[in-house]
Amino acid sequence: MAAKDEKIGIIGSGLIGRSWAMLFAGAGYQIFIYDIESKQIDSALVDIKQQLQRLEKEGLLRGKLNASEQFKCINGTLDLKQAVQDAIFVQECVPEVLEIKKKVFKGVDDICDANTIISSSTSTFVPSLFTEELKHRKNALVAHPINPPYYVPLVEIVPAPWTDPNAVKRTRELMEEIGQAPVCLTREIPGFALNRIQYAILNESWNLVADGVLSVKDVDKVMSEGLGWRYAFLGPLETAHLNADGWMDYCSKYTNTIHSVSETFKPLPKFEGPQTKVVGQQLEEMVPIQELQSRRNWRDLCLTKLAALKNTLTPK
Ligand code: NAI
Repeated sequence: MAAKDEKIGIIGSGLIGRSWAMLFAGAGYQIFIYDIESKQIDSALVDIKQQLQRLEKEGLLRGKLNASEQFKCINGTLDLKQAVQDAIFVQECVPEVLEIKKKVFKGVDDICDANTIISSSTSTFVPSLFTEELKHRKNALVAHPINPPYYVPLVEIVPAPWTDPNAVKRTRELMEEIGQAPVCLTREIPGFALNRIQYAILNESWNLVADGVLSVKDVDKVMSEGLGWRYAFLGPLETAHLNADGWMDYCSKYTNTIHSVSETFKPLPKFEGPQTKVVGQQLEEMVPIQELQSRRNWRDLCLTKLAALKNTLTPK
């Protein structure tokens, strides 16, 4: 596969900007990463090169080009115009601060043309909060990656009320082309989908520890040695479908149980007060703060091995 001529602009060269750059490079796009800090761009380029080389050595490189061809596709710039002008797609990856998002989107909007999709990596802001005033607001949306995006393929595509369905469609196609797994929400909603589900799990985990039912380690074990085994392959609804003679049978058998157990759920907790410390202490016994990075590296290794396994098992 040859490199492409089409350009992708990445705004912000931190953790997420770097991952997006690597994903787009895997498909051979010409990538321009913009940042306001030159040292951030320098360190991003060094980091990306090392990551690509390591992934290649370990046989884990994504995309169809080799590591050096992919790296050649990636350019750093301190000039927003160079990153945005004539780009088919711009992915914003600046800090999670609404005022910064608004400023960056306005800057991109002033430069880009009617064909450019302007997308945000935001985890928490619905797109209408920072795209309403834009000239090209019909091309603005959120494409929310999951950390670490190079290893976890889901991308949540979230339109604002004024986003053109064609921009959603083009984003979905682009995400599929670079090997990600997009879902398109029909409308914006706080937390999008993944975090709404994740927060439900976090809230119940907190309550189980707060009530002294399980330790932190054992709550995590319920997921890592239980639910998570299935959820790496099947979602909760298909899991239910398979756990009975189909979904209708599942509902008739379990609806009363699910409802009566759910009625015992505690009110929504807030993660504050003395319980925060209790959870923190137990987590630090499991993974001391100074070992977080090596644990993250282990997590990433597990995720790449899982990706390889899934590729061999998933029916096409
Ligand atoms: P980060 O702090 O690692 O990187 C932010 C980068 O933006 C820095 O290089 C900074 O110099 C640059 N920057 C700051 N102001 C700028 C401006 N006005 N113009 C251009 N560049 C600017 O942040 P990270 O973790 O990469 O997050 C970026 C976005 O991705 C956030 O919206 C975050 O919510 C979202 N996200 C983060 C995830 C995570 O786990 N870190 C997961 C999914 C989404």
